[in-house]
Order: sequence, then structure tokens, then C-alpha cells
Amino acid sequence: MKADAKAQFRPASGLEKLLSVQDLKVSFSSGDMIARAVDNLSYDVQQGETVCIVGESGCGKTVSTLAILGLIPRPPGRIEQGRIVFAGRDLLHLREDELRFIRGKRIGMIFQDPLTSLNPVFTVKEQIQETILAHEILEQKDIKPRLLELLDNVGLPSPETILTSYPHQLSGGQRQRVMIAMAMSCNPELIIADEPTTALDVTVQAQIIRLFKSTIQDGSRSILYITHDLGVVANLAQRVYVMYAGLIVEQGPVREVIRDPAHPYTRGLLASLPGTAKRGTLLPSIPGTVPAPFFRPSGCPFHPRCSMRQDSCRVHRPRLEPCGPGHFSRCPVLDRNKPLKRSGPISENA
Ligand SMILES: Nc1ncnc2c1ncn2[C@@H]1O[C@H](COP(=O)(O)OP(=O)(O)OP(=O)(O)O)[C@@H](O)[C@H]1O
Ligand SMILES: [Mg+2]
Repeated sequence: MKADAKAQFRPASGLEKLLSVQDLKVSFSSGDMIARAVDNLSYDVQQGETVCIVGESGCGKTVSTLAILGLIPRPPGRIEQGRIVFAGRDLLHLREDELRFIRGKRIGMIFQDPLTSLNPVFTVKEQIQETILAHEILEQKDIKPRLLELLDNVGLPSPETILTSYPHQLSGGQRQRVMIAMAMSCNPELIIADEPTTALDVTVQAQIIRLFKSTIQDGSRSILYITHDLGVVANLAQRVYVMYAGLIVEQGPVREVIRDPAHPYTRGLLASLPGTAKRGTLLPSIPGTVPAPFFRPSGCPFHPRCSMRQDSCRVHRPRLEPCGPGHFSRCPVLDRNKPLKRSGPISENA
């Protein structure tokens, strides 16, 4: 890539928006049918900030992050509208070589499934090395120490052995750490982590969360962390966006959203967290499932599952309205004076 093209990406500094997704719409087509997986989505990540997007399966979390990296498969996917501004430039208007420079070097991505995102026929060494050499010129003698340091930083014991291993020879937790090492290999300003702990047991999950926390301590890096678990959000992020059926339904500072959730969907997610129900009772769950994008209901998309719905909810899609400092919700009918029943604090075990 030409030097002048690189120079157009200004380095991020100060407390400014590093990433700003604005009014994004992404759809998929099948025959004559068009499904909008992501709808008028807007979110920001500031420098040094950890932001979570939380929502159930099928809400559009992954699709929104793939759009950031220019990885929506076309066809059947299409970005209908929106802007994705990273360090001052709209990623949707970049050439492929400019996007390649951003991917890996300035934005590190940890994909949802490490087994399918790591290449089974290459060793860990070959894969991390390839990522680094795509963006940097390194002398041969400097490569191995750098790789060992990266694996050490993510808490992998015996990094020499891991380097020569193939993905299938590693445990799920080890593979996920390798993915994190790879995402961090070029020291990117933003890391996008898509449900990086989903397939792991609770102990390993907690280790990975601790690892993320340690990587953001110096404030130089931002993290966009995708999860379906509000316990993880409470433990990790400063701000949260709650996503339902392609839409942000609530957003705000994590403490505020968890202390005083302003959307019935957020309340449902909180009530179904382990550690929040009375001892000896079953965890409440939100009835029903997220509607597929081809069959989104009219009005508020959550209304068929919502215990507080009113007639108007079937007709009008609510706007995102302010409901506290930096706190917004897309529900005009929720009575926030009715406290959310929780028997204990949210598990920090994540
Ligand atoms: N390539 C594709 N072709 C057609 N539809 C797709 C494609 N990728 C995603 N979708 C649809 O877009 C919707 C959102 O999918 P997405 O993967 O973003 O959900 P998610 O919130 O990440 O869920 P999960 O928590 O299960 O990972 C889903 O209904 C999915 O079926
Ligand atoms: Mg996903």
C-alpha cells in the first residue's frame, strides 16, 4: 500500500471516537426475500474504552462486526446504508488494500469460533508469523522471540511447544488464547472480540476475561466485545449496547444499565442470569426466541415476547430516547418505578 494512503489514517489520540458506526443497515437476500439483519445500528467506541454489545443468538452482533471489517459476503449480503468511521475515515469507502492495512494492523479481530478461524494445516507459528509479516518487516532473528513473547503475554504455558502445534492439537482455551495473541500481534488500537469465551468452561472463561482486562490497563487500546452474557458485560465494560433483532434497544454506562435497566429485554436478560434468581427456583427466561430477519414483527420487534406490551407496541417502532445520563432506551411503556427483582449481585465469575 502506498505511503500517502497510509498517512491518511490519522493516529487516534485523546478521548475521541476511535470507531463510530452510524445508521448501519445490512441485509441478506434469498430469492425474492430480503432480510435486514442489522437495522439503523449506531454505536461508538472511544479510545481506551471497552464497549460490549450484548444480545441473544441471531440479534445481528456478528454481522455488525463483519461489516466493520468489510467481510460481509456479497451476495447474499448487502450494506444498504450507513457509515463506519474508524480513526477519521469511512471504512465503507476504502479500497481493498486500504482495508487490508486496517485489518490486523489497526483492528485485531477475534472470531467467534477459533477452530474454524485458525487454519488447520498450518502451525501456530506459521499463522501468527504470517499476520505479523503482512504488516511489518522483521528480521528473521527477531521473529521467534516476538512470537514467544506474544504467547507468553496471553498466559500460554510452554510457548515453544504451542508454536509448533497445529490447531487440533490444542485445547479450546489454548486455541482461543492463540487467537487473542494473533489479534494482538501487530499491537492494534482496537480489538473486536466476538464471543471469545462461549465455547470455554467457566474457569477458562474467567481467565480470558482477566486477560482482556490486563490488556486494556494502560488505556492505549479499545475493545469491542460481543457477548450474550450480561455477567461478562458487568465484569469487563464501561459502556454497553443491548441489541435485539438487529436494533439497539438500550445503551448506556454499564453500571447504570444494570442498576436501572430501561428496556424489558434488558430486564429479561438480567433476570435470567445465574446468581440472580432465588435459591431453589428455576431461572426465569424470556419466552420465545429472536425472530429470524425474514419474519420481523411490525412495531417494536420485541413486542411478541414482552410481558409489558401495549397495543401501540404492535404498530409503532419506538425511538431511542434518553432516560438517564448517557443512557438511552427504545421503550416508552416500561414503568421503571417497578423494581427488577434480583436476589443477589450479578456473578463476577463471568
Ligand atoms: N451469510 C448469511 N446469509 C444469510 N443470512 C445471514 C448470513 N449471516 C448472518 N445471517 C443472518 O443474520 C442474522 C444475524 O446473524 P448474526 O450472526 O449476526 O447473529 P449473532 O447475534 O451474532 O448470533 P450468535 O450469538 O448466535 O452468534 C441471523 O438471523 C442470520 O441468520
Ligand atoms: Mg455471532
